[in-house]
Amino acid sequence: MPVQDPWVRYLLAKRTVDDRALNLHVFRALQRVWSHIASDPPRIVELGAGIGTMVARLLDWGLLDRGEYLLLDLHPALREAGLPWLRTWAQERGWPFRVTGDSALLEGPRGVLTLRWRVEDVYAYAARAPAETVDLLLAHALLDLMDLPSLLPLLWRLLKPGGLAYFTLNFDAGTVFLPERPELDEDFLLDRYHASMDNRTIQGRPGGSSRTGRRLLEWAVAHPQVRVLAVGASDWAVLPTGEGAYPEDEAFFLAFILETVYDALRQDPQVSSEQAQIWYRTRMKDLEEGRLIYLAHQWDVLFQKVL
Ligand SMILES: C[S@@+](CC[C@H](N)C(=O)[O-])C[C@H]1O[C@@H](n2cnc3c(N)ncnc32)[C@H](O)[C@@H]1O
Repeated sequence: MPVQDPWVRYLLAKRTVDDRALNLHVFRALQRVWSHIASDPPRIVELGAGIGTMVARLLDWGLLDRGEYLLLDLHPALREAGLPWLRTWAQERGWPFRVTGDSALLEGPRGVLTLRWRVEDVYAYAARAPAETVDLLLAHALLDLMDLPSLLPLLWRLLKPGGLAYFTLNFDAGTVFLPERPELDEDFLLDRYHASMDNRTIQGRPGGSSRTGRRLLEWAVAHPQVRVLAVGASDWAVLPTGEGAYPEDEAFFLAFILETVYDALRQDPQVSSEQAQIWYRTRMKDLEEGRLIYLAHQWDVLFQKVL
C-alpha cells in the first residue's frame, strides 16, 4: 500500500522500532494475569490508537483472540488509513475481516474480535464512558502528550476492579543522538527539546511531560487502589544494520524524529535559528550517510486496579 500521509507513514514506520522496544518482562506479566481477569467476552479499550498497530501486535503476539476492542483516537484520518491497513494485515494471515459501519469483525484462529472505532478526545471519553466496564486499558506512546493528574483518575474509573492498564512507551527524559558531536552543544539543545514537552499546552491543558515514565510510577505508588504488577524499560534504539542501511522504513522514522526536534528548537527563543539549523543539517547528513544512531528512554508499566 503506498503511504502518502507522513503521519500515517510515521506510525507504520514506528511499528518495527516499537516491536523491538516493548519490554518482554512486562508483556509476559500481562500474559500471565490476563486469562485470570478477562471477562467473557473481554472488553479492551485503546486510547490514542492511531492506525491500529497495537491490536495487530497483540493478536500476532498471542495475547488477544476474541472480545471487543475499541480504538479511540482524535483524528478520523487515522481510522480511514487504519481500517484498510488492518484488513490487509488480516488477509495476509488468512483471517476473515468483515466491515460493518463503524466496526469490523476479525475472525482469528481462536475466536472473533469485534473492532470498533471512535473519534473522540481521550479526556471527554474517559469522563463520560460507563464506570468499571473495561478489562484492559491500553495507551501506547500516548501518555507523554497528556496531563496525567487530570487524566489518570478518569481512566481508573473506567477499569473494572481487578482490571489492567498496560501503558507502554512512556518517555522519560532520555534522548541521545550519535555519533557524539560536541560542536553542536547537543546536551543544551536536547534539554530545550525536553522543555518544549514540559511547556506545551494542548487545548488549554498541559500537553504532557518529558518525565512521563517516572510520573506514572510516582502516581501509582501514591494511590492505594493502584498496584504496579510489572515495570521495565522500553527504549527505542534505531541504528543502521549494515552498510549504512536502516531496517524497514526506519530511515523515514528517523527523519520524522529529526524534523520533530527541529520544529521544537525553531520555536524556542532560547535557541538561535542558526544553531537549530546547523544541528538539523548535521544530523540529517548523518542520517543520509547512514551513521545516525537514535536512542530514546521509555518505560512500560502494567497496573492493576485493586479490588
Ligand atoms: C504518538 S501517536 C501514537 C499512536 C499509536 N498508539 C501508535 O503508537 O502507533 C499518539 C496518538 O494519540 C492521538 N491523540 C493525541 N491526543 C489525543 C486526545 N486528546 N484524544 C484522543 N487521541 C489523541 C493522536 O491522534 C495519535 O494517533
